[in-house]
Amino acid sequence: MNLLSCSSNHCPLSSKVLASTSPPSKILKSSVRVRNLGWGERRDNMRNNRRVSKVVAYYGLKSPPYRLDALEPYMSQRTLEVHWGAHHRGYVEALNKQLAKNDILYGCTMDELIRVTYNNGNPLPEFNNAAQVWNHDFFWESMQPGGGEMPTLGILQQIEKDFASFANFKEKFIEAALTSFGSGWVWLVLKREKKCLAIVKTSNAVNPLVWNDIPIISLDLWEHAYYLDYKNDRAKYVNTFMNHLVSWNAAAARMARAQAFVNLGEPKIPVA
Ligand SMILES: [Fe+2]
Repeated sequence: MNLLSCSSNHCPLSSKVLASTSPPSKILKSSVRVRNLGWGERRDNMRNNRRVSKVVAYYGLKSPPYRLDALEPYMSQRTLEVHWGAHHRGYVEALNKQLAKNDILYGCTMDELIRVTYNNGNPLPEFNNAAQVWNHDFFWESMQPGGGEMPTLGILQQIEKDFASFANFKEKFIEAALTSFGSGWVWLVLKREKKCLAIVKTSNAVNPLVWNDIPIISLDLWEHAYYLDYKNDRAKYVNTFMNHLVSWNAAAARMARAQAFVNLGEPKIPVA
């Protein structure tokens, strides 16, 4: 999440933004414009800003960590424009509208927001949008240009330990994606209690944070993720993800961080 400003000394947030009722893009544009104003214009600007006294919390739309055409030909620029630019943006904007009306949820980090609004399986209205924002940020970072190679070193060892072989893991992940009904996600997660990797399917917006698992890789199974490139051919999309898009670099970094919370014995992922 983009940190723009925080107007409260007791604001507990590092990943949230406090601002006026204007949307993030307007705030950024106006703050840039103010630097070039004369004193008279600044004074008028300050007077105008005083009229916008309501402070609300909102999240920003985070960009994928690559250009929108960087995953071609396996995921088109058009898909990224629609999936990130419209669907993901829509979740962010809908969440911000909900949070503006809910003081109780004010001050939560995104992880807290997801866990709190999941409400032990009886989700509050904010849950779907909050989880979908988090899920999509995580999904973009689960892919990379030139992805899909074999994982290496520690994460490969952990996969071989928990799935017998990388080929078996790949088969199970694809099978999970193809047997998932309707819209949802498939995940490679690290189970905290069992201290092992596992494949998990979730419906709609649900993600493994609600069970305290640590996500390592995710694949979006909503049709909006693949219909422009693959029509209704989910199998082709899932195989393409595994063979050409999945980022084992991101997975290795996530595993390295996860080992700070889950003791897997000898460090399997060298920490730089
Ligand atoms: Fe999606």
